[in-house]
Amino acid sequence: MKGQRKRIGILTGGGDCPGLNSVIRAVVKTAINIYGYDVIGFTDGYLGLVNNRFKKLTLSDVSGLLDKGGTILGTTDSFDPFKMVVDVYGEKQERDMSDRIIYNLKMHDIEGLIVIGGINTITTGYRLSLMGVNVIGIPKNIDNDIPGTDATIGFITAVNTATEALDKLHSSAESHHRLMLLEVMGRRAGWVALESGIAGGADIILIPEIPYDINLIARKILERKRTGKNFSIICVSEGAVPVEGSEYSDKTCPENTVYGISSHIAAQLEKLTHLESRVTVLGYLQRGGEPSPSDRILTTRLGVEAVNMAAEGNYNKMAGIINNGLCPIDLAQVANKCKNVPVDGELVRIARNMGVSFGD
Ligand code: F6P
Repeated sequence: MKGQRKRIGILTGGGDCPGLNSVIRAVVKTAINIYGYDVIGFTDGYLGLVNNRFKKLTLSDVSGLLDKGGTILGTTDSFDPFKMVVDVYGEKQERDMSDRIIYNLKMHDIEGLIVIGGINTITTGYRLSLMGVNVIGIPKNIDNDIPGTDATIGFITAVNTATEALDKLHSSAESHHRLMLLEVMGRRAGWVALESGIAGGADIILIPEIPYDINLIARKILERKRTGKNFSIICVSEGAVPVEGSEYSDKTCPENTVYGISSHIAAQLEKLTHLESRVTVLGYLQRGGEPSPSDRILTTRLGVEAVNMAAEGNYNKMAGIINNGLCPIDLAQVANKCKNVPVDGELVRIARNMGVSFGD
């Protein structure tokens, strides 16, 4: 309406991570203090947008949020508004609720929608942009598997958490002459395992991008044993996979989970090396807690940039940072994509230079 302050919407979708609240804070402070906009936060990701569950965010709502884990807006990590499951007389049916989203955005007179999320959230935002919604994406998840940015929100803090865990496992492994396996998250990309494995001095790093041969892992462990190192630290990405057809290529972890591969590997290695093995699955500790200072800076940069893009009408892009420079990228170049670890990239090379085995 004439004379009404410009309004932008914001939502957080997908898995939570450290830094979500910090980016909400940056968006709200920039929108209100710099541009005089109103910010409408939709709760629980796109579900809140479909059901029109919202709150007008004020400066007091974001005060003290910089170091708080989680998201004050809430999130859902498996909701697709184009395929909302509804119950029709006891029968589950899928409904496309995108028109409801467009209606709700118009009803609130929202000019632009900032979506903070992983690849599914960003891809849904792209699909909405094709229907005329002005969308800006902010890349978030601990997996760092989103192209168009050096780091996603939450990734750096997750690497810090996993590195700290590896540091703690070293003393126990050495004292007990054991194989210590740490299973970390990352879904289909090995970034968390690779970077925390390097930082945490792992001897073996297993990532989805480099299928492993259990016999070669055992050989590396026995080589270490021969040099008097009768313990090893193994950092396992939850998405690690055995080489097809290798002697132990049967994965026994339940198909519907993305964790548990490390227990399978540990059992095999005990047989092959006659060294005791112990497993730690770091799980959701990587998703919780306060963002690291680096993530606080990253989230503030991306939050401010997203609002600047909205003010410039620079929509249907994702705010990203490449080589430490702000670099918006078309949503079309991000949607449905996955940024995997380059197997011949510098990080894999330097890990190998440090004597790390990738099981290949
Ligand atoms: O995408 C982030 C992530 O933490 C993955 O690393 C992990 O596999 C997945 O989410 C777990 O999803 P959920 O929170 O639905 O269990």
